[in-house]
Amino acid sequence: MFRNHTCGALRASDIGKEVTLSGWVQKLRDKGFVVWVDLRDRYGIVQLVFDEERTPAELLDKARHLGREFVLKVQGKVIERTSKNPNIPTGDIEVLVSELEILNKAMVPPFTIEDQTDGGEDLRMKYRYLDIRRNPVKNNLIFRHKVTMEVRNYLSEQGFIEVETPYLIKSTPEGARDFVVPSRMNEGQFYALPQSPQTFKQLLMVGGMDRYFQIVKCFRDEDLRADRQPEFTQIDCEMAFVTQEDILQAFEGLTRHLLKAIKNVDVPSFPRMTYDEAMSKYGNDKPDIRFGMEFGELNDVAQHKNFNVFNSAELVVGIAVPEAASYTRKEIDALIDWVKRPQVGAKGMVYVKCNEDGSYKSSVDKFYNQEDLAAWADVTGAKPGDLICVLSGDSHSTRTQLSALRMELAGRLGLRKADEFAPLWVIDFPLLEWDEESGKYHAMHHPFTSPKPGQLEMLDSDPAAVKANAYDLVLNGNEIGGGSIRIHDKATQEIMFRHLGFTPEEAKTQFGFLMDAFQYGAPPHGGIAFGLDRLVAILGGQETIRDFIAFPKNNSGRDVMIDAPAKLDDAQLAELHLKLDT
Ligand code: AMO
Repeated sequence: MFRNHTCGALRASDIGKEVTLSGWVQKLRDKGFVVWVDLRDRYGIVQLVFDEERTPAELLDKARHLGREFVLKVQGKVIERTSKNPNIPTGDIEVLVSELEILNKAMVPPFTIEDQTDGGEDLRMKYRYLDIRRNPVKNNLIFRHKVTMEVRNYLSEQGFIEVETPYLIKSTPEGARDFVVPSRMNEGQFYALPQSPQTFKQLLMVGGMDRYFQIVKCFRDEDLRADRQPEFTQIDCEMAFVTQEDILQAFEGLTRHLLKAIKNVDVPSFPRMTYDEAMSKYGNDKPDIRFGMEFGELNDVAQHKNFNVFNSAELVVGIAVPEAASYTRKEIDALIDWVKRPQVGAKGMVYVKCNEDGSYKSSVDKFYNQEDLAAWADVTGAKPGDLICVLSGDSHSTRTQLSALRMELAGRLGLRKADEFAPLWVIDFPLLEWDEESGKYHAMHHPFTSPKPGQLEMLDSDPAAVKANAYDLVLNGNEIGGGSIRIHDKATQEIMFRHLGFTPEEAKTQFGFLMDAFQYGAPPHGGIAFGLDRLVAILGGQETIRDFIAFPKNNSGRDVMIDAPAKLDDAQLAELHLKLDT
């Protein structure tokens, strides 16, 4: 037997018990006549004690020669501590060891395995198995497990069936590049790893499964960021015989359940906002609505004076930053430099200080009088003490830039509170989006998304204006889910492919199986997929998903622990028909 208690379990009520424990050496303190060892396992830390008075000399000596992260099995008696530690649950007791077995020695770890570690990100990734011993990482993984279990139980109770779909498939277009796998048995042919199980879940609806879900790995070869990994996990769902309203209700239910079960938060309201409204109010299709600072469009009140920068702009737009009128010249200059950074890309920023006495002081006083500036304050909702920040230029870039500034300032002002949760649906997305690079329209969600009723005809006359039955679930400024009502008939799907620039042959080769299925009684259906990693990170009060993934990739898509990707040897390349003749 390795243990009859875990390291975090023992309390004052256990005093007098003989116990067996196993775990890792977290810390060793050798005071000469007494040696203390902190023994750690997943459940906590317990203090072991060896002393000259009560411990045989040989055992005391053995304890003295232990090293950090040695794996031990000990036997001993639970005794009361003379100096108690109120900071840990086992702080009232210690274990006077009578037997010590070293189960395994350990090299000195490359970083300290404590909550606050001296290890940098790269080192911790290389030795991720050591990092996982630390509470912050371990607790995140346990937290993830809890969220996953809640999701599974909830969806199962709602009648959803978990079905596994294959990983070796053909391209599913979700807007990223595919990871591909060469086929040994089919020379020159490749599988693609799924960017999502999209087509399979639709086929499950044709198969009559009615309510499907799957907690599933997806693979996307795209540029990585804090909220993106090349392989990530979706809570993928699909339902048959539903309207958009049914889906929004069903997954508002799941979100509410998770917030209650995991965070004990009751969300008072679950607003819905159209894509157009989100873009004009927040410059962003995933607005953080935990705080205000809504955009005020100033064209009417700021143009046609003598300020040419504004006169020549398509859009003049501002936000009122609460209680920031006291910013010094230096602070404001730093803000202007911030918006001019290439990552943001603004050409400059106009500001207005709304003084406590009701007067205004702006960087464009030459062109605007107090009455003009009062109108700006009115449009942006600025109060005395606020600072109005104004950007101008072409509509899309200006909104994006002001959105970046809004989020940055909210962060600096502490308005993005990790323990506050503000979900919303963003609905009525455009069906198509113009892609400058390819000079073509792309499906904004994916090519299987249906247009709003009656708008199919507009695809020829005004494609950009067509709205989709598509929706995103946004939580605290992050897109945590997205879905749509699907096309379920062959004719519409063909029209859609044509508008996306597929020839009929290309559409047939790539998606013939789906269009065939639509001819055998496909029910109306729709669904959604949540990004599980993102959802877990945000519920955990963070935005970096890496911290909630056991073995993540770095920003270059590498697993630095196993050193992947890696080269293949010639024999393997040849077998896969990948060896180029030299
Ligand atoms: P979508 O592409 O919007 O929809 O993806 C759904 C959700 O998955 C998460 N996500 C990611 N998380 C981490 N790393 C990534 N690289 C990454 N990419 C996406 C996001 C996103 O909201 N098949 C459709 C769903 C549907 O229509 O039902 C789909 O995959 O949180």
